[in-house]
Amino acid sequence: MYHKVVNKVIYTAMLVCFSSLSVHAETTQTEATATAEATPESVPEVVEIKDALATTVVNIDEKSFSCIRDMTPVRHFYVDNLLGDVEGTLAAANAPDGAIYPEGSVVQLVPTEVMVKRESGTFPATGDWEFFELEVNEQGSKIAKRGFVDVVNRFDGNCFSCHAPAREKWDFICESGHGCDPIPIDHKMTGALQRSDPRCGEAEPEDGDWMALFKLKSMVTIGLTKKWIEDKL
Ligand code: HEC
Repeated sequence: MYHKVVNKVIYTAMLVCFSSLSVHAETTQTEATATAEATPESVPEVVEIKDALATTVVNIDEKSFSCIRDMTPVRHFYVDNLLGDVEGTLAAANAPDGAIYPEGSVVQLVPTEVMVKRESGTFPATGDWEFFELEVNEQGSKIAKRGFVDVVNRFDGNCFSCHAPAREKWDFICESGHGCDPIPIDHKMTGALQRSDPRCGEAEPEDGDWMALFKLKSMVTIGLTKKWIEDKL
């Protein structure tokens, strides 16, 4: 009973909160495909990687994203790689002085917002990152918005502008202390959102998640109300 109530609250909070996202890209499937096409014996790797890229990263669709907790955790966020190079992505994420993330990298902090590293040279202004805003529910993900410099989240914040201060050294990854203005959402809240991603099945709440989501929901409601009023003025 307790779980039912908690799940319901969490789910409602999820609906109201971030438009969520979550990426993870049927990694297993993508990796399986990439491996089948490019076993080390059979292929000159460069060519194969480009081929894999053409068939995976270029064709990112809603199936590219799923349960955030199936991705690989790094500190308080999650990473993956649509081309199977999770090691490369992890190496960049863990580089003490920052690094350029490899093609195919997927980074997520909350289920509804995703960054995907596209092919080198695709869009130099954003360091080849494509930004996504997703809608997520038990059935999966829907891509609400995607693009390079013009994607705004539901609070009217432009992904690229907010992340741009972290460009040098950190390849647009903000975390804390990378130059971006802080957001009013702490890691307790982002953790609660990750643990209640509806695409993962049962939520796995920790102590305090209910309160974190409640606070977040209130902030979102206030934020959206404020935006609504501003839009009317
Ligand atoms: C108001 C500024 C702002 C906006 C708008 C914004 N972000 Fe962020 N984002 C941040 C900050 C700051 C962090 C780091 C938060 C933390 O870890 O404490 C972050 C974290 C992230 C992360 C985890 C990796 C990292 O950079 O730390 C991803 C992925 C991400 N945002 C994607 C997006 C996407 C996609 C959008 C647009 C749909 C977006 N963000 C909009 C400021 C912003």
